[in-house]
Amino acid sequence: MELIVNGVHHNVDADANMPLLWAVRDLLGLHGTKFGCGVGACGACTVHLDGVAVRSCVTSLSDVQGKPVTTIEGLGKGGEHPVQRAWKAANVPQCGYCQPGQMMQAASLLKQTPKPSDEQIVEAMSGNVCRCGTYQRIKVAIKAAAEQA
Ligand code: FES
Ligand code: FES
Repeated sequence: MELIVNGVHHNVDADANMPLLWAVRDLLGLHGTKFGCGVGACGACTVHLDGVAVRSCVTSLSDVQGKPVTTIEGLGKGGEHPVQRAWKAANVPQCGYCQPGQMMQAASLLKQTPKPSDEQIVEAMSGNVCRCGTYQRIKVAIKAAAEQA
């Protein structure tokens, strides 16, 4: 299978039905994308496919052939995407496990809706679970990132 991840082309020896998350972590060694539920219900595994947030645990390799995938490692050069800068400034993470997925979801939201309302933020982020309860800081960071853009 051919994968285009963070701008790099890879040929991987894998079944077309393999979840993208497995390939990203186990075959490409990109461990920023996290395994949470494995059934599309928590958002920990969020990456971008063609610039739009998808759950990589329920996206098969056959779904991504010829399409650009971006993981947290490729979101911003040196961690300098506006979302990443805002996350650092607002000290968003607690344990950090959910945060790559949260940032990928937020970046996708801001690409589609550069100045989201509170309701749009809540709606867009509703599928990303944080067991540490960092939701208020996530909202603050998204608003700050929107101001920077
Ligand atoms: S691990 Fe993919 S949504 Fe939870
Ligand atoms: S920061 Fe711990 S799960 Fe979100």
